[in-house]
Formats: sequence, structure tokens, C-alpha cells
Amino acid sequence: MERYLLRDDIWWAGAIDWDVRDFHGYETPRGTTYNAYLILDEKVALVDGCREGFGPEVLARIRGCCGMRPVDYLVVNHVEPDHSGAIPWLVERLRPERIFCSKRARDVLGLYYGAETVDGWNIQTVATGDEVSLGRNTLQFIEAPMLHWPDSMFTYVREAKTLLPNDGFGQHLATSKRFADEVDMSLVMEEASKYYANILMPFGGQIQKMLAKIGELGLEIETIGPSHGVIWRRPEDVSRIVESYAAWSDFQAPERVSLIYDTMWHATEQMTMAIADGVAQQGVDCVVARLSSNPRSEMARLVLESRAFLVGSPTLNNNMFPTVGEFLTYIKGLRPRRRVSGAYGSCGWAGGAVKQLDAELTALGLDMVEPIEVKYRPSEAELEACVELGRQVARKVRTTG
Ligand code: FEO
Repeated sequence: MERYLLRDDIWWAGAIDWDVRDFHGYETPRGTTYNAYLILDEKVALVDGCREGFGPEVLARIRGCCGMRPVDYLVVNHVEPDHSGAIPWLVERLRPERIFCSKRARDVLGLYYGAETVDGWNIQTVATGDEVSLGRNTLQFIEAPMLHWPDSMFTYVREAKTLLPNDGFGQHLATSKRFADEVDMSLVMEEASKYYANILMPFGGQIQKMLAKIGELGLEIETIGPSHGVIWRRPEDVSRIVESYAAWSDFQAPERVSLIYDTMWHATEQMTMAIADGVAQQGVDCVVARLSSNPRSEMARLVLESRAFLVGSPTLNNNMFPTVGEFLTYIKGLRPRRRVSGAYGSCGWAGGAVKQLDAELTALGLDMVEPIEVKYRPSEAELEACVELGRQVARKVRTTG
């Protein structure tokens, strides 16, 4: 089995999931990886686990790196099942002398795998500032609540200047390459952006605090090994992903308008194209995405990567179209901020969708434009009003940012 050295004493010992296409509702067309890291020192430490079923791959990689040497320590940075699902299986086989995790992680491990199982493990709970020496290397723990769950923490390998931040800085990307600089960077950044949008967008405030904490602690970071996707090791790539997190968590976005819509008899679609014309007339980038043709995970990325997003829906039985309702439920949970937004759409004899959409988007605290609703199909005058709406939104986007 191929071995991958990150740097100094740190090896990649993870698993590649080429096949996963639905990651708790997030469509993952390029699969993912569950990265674990093995530090070979006077003490051997494994940082992170993997999803249930991938334990044999991780174990084979560990054996490929250190033969039958015992793994003394196991660090559980996060207990979501994509990282902890195989922990009981691995613990049974590796029998680590000690397991390090946050206090919350310990409680949740008990809830997932049974207190009677977890009580048999020698768990040492750790908090920010706690350290453990492996010999040449020191592991420093940093609590990272809500990156991605309350139990999450980062592990920093001080001498190797390597941050192992679990879900932070990841991408759902399966590849035979382990490092970002070995893969097409535009693809890596697209997946990093989609990952941030779908997994971390609600936690911008906590991410800002974490970035500040890393600064306060004076951590020098030359390598970032997330638990999903490829590893950041070139200085320009480490800077690129950290700066992207600083911008995303502050809800900064490119000068772009996304029109996210669905349509029954093409009336809402006609309105969409007219709005897109108006945006383009102002020289602002516009993306048009029909909900029934695109996964909602891609729509979340558009919301992250656009200063404005308008939502268009036909009315069906006095309600918004089902795909629009699903999108709205999803996006409400992701809590976008600092976005221009608005509702538009068509109806037959009675409306409903546009009013509901406008109310729900307003409740998100977005900077709303006046909604437009047309009956049956848009007239020339109504299409011109849509073009003007596009111009108006483009002008607003120009002055925000
Ligand atoms: Fe990769 Fe929050 O799990």
C-alpha cells in the first residue's frame, strides 16, 4: 500500500471513499477521504479515525508505516461518525495506552458507542493549552467548538509546524494524490468552497474567533492536514485556504448575482432570464441555476460565492414550488448573512409563493429588494420590470462587499 509522508515524522494513514455521493444530504460527486495521521516518534500517535467500514484500510496503512509497533496514543479530534464510526473497531485492535479528546467528545463517544464500551478506554480529556510529548514532537490541543460540532478540537504538532484541524479547511474530494499542489487548484478550491458553504457557513463567528485564537497562540503553520480531502503544504496554498476562511467567515463574496429558481410552465424562467439581462447590462457577473437541475449543495456554494441571490418560484396549490421549499429549508439552516436578496415568481389565479418567499428571506435578515409577482405569464411591461430589478440588484451589489 502506498505510503504518504507529510513531513518529518507525520504520515497520512487515512482512507479514500471514492463512492460516497450523499454526505448527510450534501451531494459529493467527487467522493471524499477520511484522513488520519500517524506520528512516529518515541511514542506513536494516531490523530483521528474514520467512518465505519474504513477501519481495515486505516489499519493497513498504519501497519504499512510502522509495522507491528504499538500505537500508544489515539487523538479523537471530533466524534461525528465519519471520524469516529470506526473508533471502537480500531481501539479493539490497536489497544492504545491513552485516548485524548475534549470533554464533550468523551460524553458523545459514550452516547454513540455505549458508556460500558467507552468506560473501558483510558480517556484523558484535554482543553486548549494542554500538551502531550511524543519525544521529539509535542501535540498541542486547541478546542474548536462548532468547527464542526461542539466537541471539535484541533491538534497542532508544534515542532513540525503542522495543524491537524479535522473538519476545518477540508474538501470532499477523493483523489490518489494527497497534497493540494498535486491536484488542479481550481478544482480543489471549488470543493473547499462548496465544503465551507455546506458544512461551516452557519459558524462564521466561531471561525473568526478560531482564526484570532491561532494568531494569539502564535502558532506557526507550515502544513495543514484536514480530515477530508487534500493537504495544504506550500506556503502559498496554506495562505490561500486560511485567507479564504477569513473572507468566507466574514461573508465577503465576489461581485456576483445568483438567480436560483424553478419553473412550471416557463413563466418564472422567463422572469429569471429578464433579471439576468438586467444584471449583465450593469457588467456584473450573473449565474442562473434551476433547482430541479442542480443539487442543493451547489446552490449553497452559489449563495456563499455571490453578493446577491434572488429566489424565483411559481405558485403551486397556494405554496412555493417543492424544490424551492426544500432549498429554503436548507439555506435557512446555513444562515447566510450580508447578502442582497429578493423573491420573484409567477402564479395563476391566486398567488402565495412570492409572498411566502419574501417573508422567509426577510426573516433571515438579508438586504431585500421589492418582490415581483406576475399572473400566468409575464407581459412585456412585466419583463421590463424584471430587467430593471436585475439592474437594481447589480447596482446594489456594486456598492456592497
Ligand atoms: Fe467530517 Fe463533522 O465531520
